[in-house]
Amino acid sequence: MTENYEIIDHEYDVVVVGAGGAGLRAGFGCAEKGLRTALISKVFPTRSHTVAAQGGISAALGNMGEDDWRFHFYDTIKGSDWLGDQDAIEYMCREAIPAIYELEHYGVPFSRTAEGKIYQRAFGGMTTHYGEGTAQRTCAAADRTGHAILHTLYQQALKHRAEFFIEYFALDLIMNDEGECLGVMAWNLDDGTIHRFRAHQTILATGGYGRAYFSCTSAHTCTGDGNAMVLRAGLPLQDMEFVQFHPTGIYGAGCLITEGVRGEGGYLTNSEGERFMERYAPSAKDLASRDVVSRSMTIEIREGRGVGDRNDHIHLNLMHLDPDIIHSRLPGIAESARIFAGADVTKEPIPVLPTVHYNMGGIPTNFRTEVLNPTNDDPNKIVPGLMAIGEAACVSVHGANRLGSNSLLDLVVFGRAAAIRAAETVAPGAPHKPFGSDDGTKALDRLDHFRNVKGGTRTADLRDDMQRTMQDHAAVFRTGETLQEGCEKIDKSFAGKADLSIEDRSMIFNTDLVETLELDNLLGQAVATLYSAVNRTESRGAHAREDFTERDDDKWMNHTTIWVDDKGKAKLGDRPVILHTLTNEVEAVPPKARVY
Ligand code: FUM
Repeated sequence: MTENYEIIDHEYDVVVVGAGGAGLRAGFGCAEKGLRTALISKVFPTRSHTVAAQGGISAALGNMGEDDWRFHFYDTIKGSDWLGDQDAIEYMCREAIPAIYELEHYGVPFSRTAEGKIYQRAFGGMTTHYGEGTAQRTCAAADRTGHAILHTLYQQALKHRAEFFIEYFALDLIMNDEGECLGVMAWNLDDGTIHRFRAHQTILATGGYGRAYFSCTSAHTCTGDGNAMVLRAGLPLQDMEFVQFHPTGIYGAGCLITEGVRGEGGYLTNSEGERFMERYAPSAKDLASRDVVSRSMTIEIREGRGVGDRNDHIHLNLMHLDPDIIHSRLPGIAESARIFAGADVTKEPIPVLPTVHYNMGGIPTNFRTEVLNPTNDDPNKIVPGLMAIGEAACVSVHGANRLGSNSLLDLVVFGRAAAIRAAETVAPGAPHKPFGSDDGTKALDRLDHFRNVKGGTRTADLRDDMQRTMQDHAAVFRTGETLQEGCEKIDKSFAGKADLSIEDRSMIFNTDLVETLELDNLLGQAVATLYSAVNRTESRGAHAREDFTERDDDKWMNHTTIWVDDKGKAKLGDRPVILHTLTNEVEAVPPKARVY
């Protein structure tokens, strides 16, 4: 039975949930346009996971050689293995150039060329002339680009007087009976109070759900809270089978070693000292797209050419690079390698392994960032009052595989797009609609339920089961059999929620309860990932089926949609990929074989 929680009410034009790169950009963009805007974040904004992005942000500035946003557009479509929506990809790649200059003017301390231009490095899958040369397109602030951008965006948000609710944990959306979003419920972790935020637009910028896995580069906070709120609102997620493994996580620790290392000339070797990527991707080699490199590394290890006592990882070499380059462009990874692998990168290779890094799937949106609830009659039906951006969203610019340095870009371009759309759809100070059958009570019932669980399973143990299932069954390579087994195991984990127990029932900074709510959020997404993966009987991008090794455009050129109900039951659907462009400034790219 639900305790009688006292509710503190707030009314805003716009509420943004999440204050990482996407949330901050959207939040101050709305405030700048005269909308009263609240940003709710479960961590201090500059601790959001954007801070961990290393290598850079892509834009065809052409500072280091010829480039064109149309080349970037082509590369992104090819990188997505033709699952990306081409209207949204056009929007992102075209808007990339002004977005970077905007960041520069806001104060991002980009590294510089000798002439004082923004420094750009090579990244995987980025070419010139539609697949011919190598583009140096990734704008970098050494190897701490996310840190530099996040702090700058936070300063902009303060400047524009966006209002922050920091260390508030978002519980659930408030939906009315017509399927419109009216706001969000949140718990102030610091003093235990409950808050109800009404808003004309609620923007979810809650990041990915990497922590569904045992080993990932994602922060502990990456539990996909917005995605889970969307599932509980009876809305679908999209393309959840596409999980990116970054080729170079530190072996054993999981921390990221930026692709920028290979962009600066680093390379991978196996136990025979062979630069094996030359066999798998003769043209792009170590700078092939991430799905290709991660698969190649996995094959090398499987075939007995891994390094180390157990032959279970790969070497990343940068000993040959000029120490000045390491010092000026890669200082952060030199430090991480020393701390987490005990490796002096000037003298020895870094032990690395493909590690979960990014979710291509998430909340379906159009390029204006409005959330979609696709039906048979209307695959692009909009959910009024709800928007999603950043890794939480599936807009879908990354399709089946994201290119490195396109995610920081996604954050700022679509964060800005959300602010533009909010300003078009919201009249500042307009009165709020009355609640329907839910006035936020549903969120409190759930909170109360988990606060009072008295079973026999610790949250940490159930989380461990889920993470190991995901690690073993939704891996770089998949088969129908391993996925089916994964579905059965994850069903058990989902059902295991009924036996959870927590020791601390207080409302004040109760991390036991936070982790339990986060686990509940993760479990729905884990179910969505495995059921979407077993359903897709083809190989495309990061979804590599050993029993269906080819891409099958006739049958599978579709986004997967999936609903997961409160019993953990999944329902699958699909919606068409958008294969046309937004303007006639660029031509759509028809599907073809994807080789690097
Ligand atoms: O390798 C990296 O620096 C990661 C970048 C990204 O995921 O975009």
